[in-house]
Amino acid sequence: MSERLADYDRLKMEELNYNSYLKVPELTSLQHLRSEPKHHDEMFFIVIHQSFELWFKEALHEVGLMASFLANDDVARSLKVLKRVQAIITCLTQQIQLLGTLTPDEFAGFREALGTGSGFQSVQFREMEFACGQRDPWFFQFFEARPDEKARLQARFESPSVYDCFLQAMARAGYQVPKEVLERKLTETHQMNDELVEVFRELYQDPKTDYHWVLACEALLDLDTMWSNFRSAHILMVSRTIGGKKGTGGSSGVPFLESRLPLRFFPELWEVRNSDWQK
Ligand code: HEM
Repeated sequence: MSERLADYDRLKMEELNYNSYLKVPELTSLQHLRSEPKHHDEMFFIVIHQSFELWFKEALHEVGLMASFLANDDVARSLKVLKRVQAIITCLTQQIQLLGTLTPDEFAGFREALGTGSGFQSVQFREMEFACGQRDPWFFQFFEARPDEKARLQARFESPSVYDCFLQAMARAGYQVPKEVLERKLTETHQMNDELVEVFRELYQDPKTDYHWVLACEALLDLDTMWSNFRSAHILMVSRTIGGKKGTGGSSGVPFLESRLPLRFFPELWEVRNSDWQK
């Protein structure tokens, strides 16, 4: 007990406490309203976006761990990490609902202050997309003026995606993952491969003792579903906030966002649903 007290005294001396450890003063001084006169709801808008970015950071941190577990053929632990990523995305999808308390006139009251600021410029969102395998070089244009962010994005663009790591691990476990899939050009979005659909069909149909691979496939599908739910929630929220107006990033707004709704990270896991299953 006295040792613990000594510890406490030492930490007190070093002034390690809740606020200093978490850098609360720094964190809560990062909300700079640009509207003039200051619009009450701009604070709300900034806090929501900043908290999204913190969660994106954490999700990317976990995706890195997941990839390293897969590289070591530790599928079970990669699933545990994936579960946390899914929990974060679910939380973010719910968090979008907060913006339902922002009426269109309230948003219009400070929208001008955003200038051309847009979700297009969220490097961490794009990193998540690239890490999951969606790689559209069109989005680099939003980072031309910010070399550090562009370099981060470029690194993701050239690295294996979560799906690549997963399929490599499957191949090492003896599944006949097609060579062209394993050796694909990383800087392009993964394209649907019929032979890979067949590999999944056989796995689902007769997993023998390998049922953990089926669970892993289902977990990836959950991730794809959750990402899609996030996109849908964002679109609905945008519709109720700005209707059919253009986005601050220069896109057509809702029609542009809807055009991205059909994107799927793991197309073969969707396609395999069309199989004729033997009874
Ligand atoms: C009132 C709130 C919001 C409105 C009106 C809104 C509107 C839009 C619009 C119109 C776009 C299309 C790009 C453009 O032209 O700017 C967009 C993209 C985007 N927004 Fe939002 N947004 C809002 C809140 C959020 C929040 C809270 C996030 C969370 C980070 C977010 C993340 C994104 C992302 C990542 C994109 C790019 C989507 C993609 O490329 O598929 N937005 N947003």
